[in-house]
Amino acid sequence: MSNAVPDTERAWTVGTAPGIFPSIGHPIALLRRPLDFLNSLPARGDLVEIRLGPLRAWMACHPEVAHQVLMDTRTFDKGGPLYNRLRPLMGNGLVTCRQDAHRRQRRLLQPDFRPSRVADHADMMRREAEVACREWRAGGEVDVSAVTLALTTRVMNHVLFSDSLGGAAAAEVGERLAVIVRGLFVRTAVPVDAPFRVPTPANRRYRHAVDRVHTIVDEVVARRRRGGPDGDRDDVLGTLLSAAREGSSGVTEQEVHDQLVTLLLTGAESTALCLASALDLLARHPEAERRLHAEVDAVTADQPRPGPDELPYTRSVVAETLRHRPPGWLFTRITTQETTLAGQRLPRGTTVLYSPYLLHHDPASFPDPERFLPERWLPGATADPRGAMLPFAAGSRKCLGDTFAVAETTLALATIAGRWRLRHLPGYAERLRPAATLGPRSLVMTSEPRVHAPEGTAPPARSLALRATTAARAQDPRTAGDNGVDDA
Ligand code: HEM
Repeated sequence: MSNAVPDTERAWTVGTAPGIFPSIGHPIALLRRPLDFLNSLPARGDLVEIRLGPLRAWMACHPEVAHQVLMDTRTFDKGGPLYNRLRPLMGNGLVTCRQDAHRRQRRLLQPDFRPSRVADHADMMRREAEVACREWRAGGEVDVSAVTLALTTRVMNHVLFSDSLGGAAAAEVGERLAVIVRGLFVRTAVPVDAPFRVPTPANRRYRHAVDRVHTIVDEVVARRRRGGPDGDRDDVLGTLLSAAREGSSGVTEQEVHDQLVTLLLTGAESTALCLASALDLLARHPEAERRLHAEVDAVTADQPRPGPDELPYTRSVVAETLRHRPPGWLFTRITTQETTLAGQRLPRGTTVLYSPYLLHHDPASFPDPERFLPERWLPGATADPRGAMLPFAAGSRKCLGDTFAVAETTLALATIAGRWRLRHLPGYAERLRPAATLGPRSLVMTSEPRVHAPEGTAPPARSLALRATTAARAQDPRTAGDNGVDDA
């Protein structure tokens, strides 16, 4: 349910975005400095008009206006430039389908992502995070963007296919994904087709990347089908194939394909960016990093495999990362009938936008919004009185994988932080260029081991040493961020 404060007495303001160019509108402002452009919009009104070539679109700049768009899914259906571009890629799967197909699809897939299923995956998530940092060396360089994407792709491979996507295919999916998300954003900001039909190297790369992802998924499905009903596994592919075998379910072969492509891409990409962003932000905020290390050390001293709920500070780091740098930063909708939004009449077929990034960076919702402050989300804090925190959207089209993604990121962060701290390379400067998703795409850092165990120290002795140093600190929450003991 929406937790926006109803504000029926309010006089809504409607405006136009700055930086308009005659005849083409705002694509230049949106493509050149997208985040600054978004941050400039709330000052123009609660609902702000943006022109993208011939297209007139409206951005919901007030949380209550965004909630109206998200909750009234019949009037504000999936559509507009982003979803028009996503459909050739994801077909008619759960992310892209229209409202009339949604309920059946959601009912089919929801059980595989319910909280108890997510809890069943916790060990696998921890194991994959251990694999991700197993080869790191003291002082060595780590390609954080590549490592996080490989990690989340392996996790999705497990959940969707019980690992039957081979290692090379999983790695290729990651590489193709990077090409796809870049191409998607340009295609969203320029909603005319002609420039993308020209066979430029970039357009060819994009088309090839899309074709390869489809082929890779088809091959996994074909292999499983050859195994017959006996080849069924307890994974999402198993759910889809057994539904497809029941004629009454309405699931076609095409839908099996579309749902798998949808889940593979959304599940791997956004979570990888969230984890990479968290590692990046922690390295810039030593106090937050110290508190996270203190929590991980104290909790794992008593419980070597804690769940996400046992790591409240680590979870707050994930929440603040999702606020500060939401991987899904811009989405579109299309009106299915004439309606009124923030007092503005919108005809049927109008494009409406909402942006978690814009809503999360409005100082009216979050004081000092540019500051990375995980404490906003600690139990008891009242961080979000306006209901502006929407990293996973809201309403019936809310992210299917929200619990899954938070668990995966929290456990990965705790697993890595128990062993390593990552540092930026000298001279590193942030160059965050949003694509269809937002986050660091070529982040390289160096790894420093956090605990120097003498060569050959057996794991139990080492964890006892940790326990002795952390227990004293954990008793006094005021010193939880103290860096005096185990941070070597
Ligand atoms: C940090 C990671 C993630 C973020 C930030 C994120 C964000 C979002 C957002 C904002 C939406 C709504 C889009 C809109 O309103 O147009 C969405 C939808 C969706 N997401 Fe995620 N997502 C994440 C991870 C995942 C994972 C791990 C999965 C699957 C395993 C997933 C599957 C989906 C699906 C299927 C939908 C469409 C739901 C529906 O319409 O019923 N996402 N996600």
